[in-house]
Amino acid sequence: MNTLSHSLTAALLLGCGFAAHAAESVDDNLIAQGKALAVASDCMACHTNTPGKGKAFAGGYGIASPVGAIYTTNITPSVKYGIGSYSEAEFAAALRTGIRKDGAHLYPAMPYTAYTRLSDDQIHALYTYFMHGVAPVDQPAAHQTDLPFPFNIRFSLAMWNMIFLDNARFTPNPAQGEKVNEGAELVEGPGHCGTCHTPRNILLAEDNSHFLEGAQLGSWYAPNITADPERGIGDWSEQELVSYLKTGRATGRAQAAGPMAEAVEHSFQYLTDRQLQAIAAYLKAAPYKSEGNKSESAVPREARYNVELNLRGANPPNVNHTLNSGEALYSGYCASCHQPDGSGSRGQEYPSLFNNSATLRDNPSNLISTILQGVNRQVGEKHVLMPGFGKGSYVGELTDKQVADIANFVLQKYGNSAVSVTEADVEEVRAGGPKPLLARAQPVFIPGMAAGAVIVIVLIIGLWRRRARRRG
Ligand code: HEC
Ligand code: HEC
Ligand code: HEC
Repeated sequence: MNTLSHSLTAALLLGCGFAAHAAESVDDNLIAQGKALAVASDCMACHTNTPGKGKAFAGGYGIASPVGAIYTTNITPSVKYGIGSYSEAEFAAALRTGIRKDGAHLYPAMPYTAYTRLSDDQIHALYTYFMHGVAPVDQPAAHQTDLPFPFNIRFSLAMWNMIFLDNARFTPNPAQGEKVNEGAELVEGPGHCGTCHTPRNILLAEDNSHFLEGAQLGSWYAPNITADPERGIGDWSEQELVSYLKTGRATGRAQAAGPMAEAVEHSFQYLTDRQLQAIAAYLKAAPYKSEGNKSESAVPREARYNVELNLRGANPPNVNHTLNSGEALYSGYCASCHQPDGSGSRGQEYPSLFNNSATLRDNPSNLISTILQGVNRQVGEKHVLMPGFGKGSYVGELTDKQVADIANFVLQKYGNSAVSVTEADVEEVRAGGPKPLLARAQPVFIPGMAAGAVIVIVLIIGLWRRRARRRG
C-alpha cells in the first residue's frame, strides 16, 4: 500500500499524463491480484452456465442441493442484471455474510461460510477485479432458483447464519510456520476445501468438529483429507498432493473425477507451486482425529487376478465363469484400458485399480460414479477421458445390475473386499446420491404449506371484503 501511494504521489508531481498512466498500472496490479484470487476461489466454475460455454460470470449454473437446484446469479458488473451497483461494502457483505444488496439472504450454496475468512485487502482486490476486469453481461442469468416451501423462505437463513456462520477473518496460528499458515489460509478461505470435504449436520451446515473428514457430495464422495495416515492423506507425500491438485492425478494413488476434476480444471491447476506446496504442508501438519485402522481388506492386494486367464481358457476352463458376470463385464468393458489384471497401462495413463483410492475406501460412491459418468478433465493441454457407462453413453449403457456386478468384481479382486455394492446403491447414485434427512423431511412440509395457503386466502378475502364495504 505504501509503495502504491508513493508512486501515485510521484506520478501526480510529474504531471497529469503520467498520473493517469500510473493510476492505470496500479489498478492493473490490483485487478491481476483480484483475478488470481477469483481463480483460487473458483468463482467462475459456479457463476458460469455450463462452464466453457456460457458467458463468463453471467450465472445460471445449477448447483444440485438436496432440496432442489440453486442457480447462481449474474456477478458481472452489469448494473441491471449483475452486481454493477454493488458498493465494496455490499460486495463484502455478500461474500462474508451471505447478504445480498437488497438485504435478502443467499443460500449457503454460495460458499460465504468459507469466503468470510477473506481479508479486507483480498475483498478489495476481488471487488476491483469484478468491477474493472470483468466484462458486463446485460442479460439475466439463464435460470432462477425456485425451491419448494419452506426452503424458499430466505429469512430462515438469518437464523441459520446466527447459529452456523463464524463471521471472522483468517487468523494465522503463531505456533506454525509461514508456509503452513499460507496453506491454512488457502484451504479455509479461497480454496473452500471444507465446502465439499467437511460433513454437514442435519441442517446442512458444515460440521467443523469434523473438518475435512470426508463428506457425501451428491453422487460423489469427497474423501477424508486430514493427516490421518489410515483414513486421510497422511501417508501421501507433499509432492503427491501437489501433483494431485495441479494435474488431478497422483500416480498409484488417486485420480480426480466429478466435482474435484472441476475444481482442478477451473481453479487448482492455476495456483502457483508455492501455493500448492503450502496447501500440502498445511494438510499434512494439521491435527487429526484417528478413527482406528482401516479394515484389513482395504489393504491393496498383491495377487493380480487376471480375467483373461479364466475367460480365454489359458487355465482349465472354470465352469462357473459364465455365471460370474462381473468378471465377464469387466473383461468386456474395462480391461482394454485398465488391463485384464487391473494393473493399468504401463505409463499409468490408464490407472491401476489397486492402490487406487476409488476402490479402497469404505464408501463406493466414487467407483460407481466413475463407471456411470466416466472421467473428463482438461488440465493444460491434456485432456483425460474415460467414457461413462450411464444413460446416454456413447460406448454402451450398463444397467444398475451390471454396474453393481462390475463394481463388486473390482472391489473383490482389486479393491476393498469388505465393501459391496447393490443394485439399489447404483440406482441411488444415478439419482444424485443419498438424500440428507432435511430433504427427506420436505414432504411433511407440504400439508403445512396447504394450511398456510388457506390462511393467506382467508386473509385476502377478508381484506377485500373490508375494502368493498368501505367503498360501498
Ligand atoms: C460453489 C458455488 C459458488 C462459488 C464457488 C461462488 N459462488 Fe457466488 N453464488 C453462488 C450461488 C448459488 C449464488 C446465489 C445464491 C442464492 O440465490 O441464494 C451466489 C451468489 C453470489 C452473489 C450475490 C449476487 C446477487 O446479487 O444475486 C455474489 C456477489 C457472489 N455470489 C460472488 C461470488 C464471488 C466473488 C465468488 C468467488 C470469490 C463466488 N461468488 C463463488 C455460488 C457460488
Ligand atoms: C467442489 C467440491 C470439492 C472441492 C471445492 C474440493 N474437493 Fe477435493 N475432492 C472432491 C471429490 C468429490 C473428490 C473425490 C474425487 C475422485 O475420487 O474422483 C476429491 C478428492 C480429493 C483428494 C484425493 C483424496 C483421495 O483419497 O483420493 C484430495 C487430496 C483433495 N480432494 C484435496 C482437496 C483440497 C486440498 C481442496 C481445497 C484446496 C479440495 N480438495 C477442494 C471434491 C472437492
Ligand atoms: C477408454 C479407456 C477406459 C475404459 C474403457 C475404462 N476406463 Fe476407467 N479410467 C480411464 C482413465 C483415462 C481414467 C482417469 C485417469 C486419470 O484421471 O488420470 C480412469 C479412471 C478410473 C477410475 C478412478 C476414478 C477416480 O475418480 O478415482 C476407476 C475406479 C475406473 N477408471 C474404473 C473403470 C471401470 C470399472 C471400467 C469399466 C466399466 C473402466 N474404468 C473403463 C480409462 C478407461
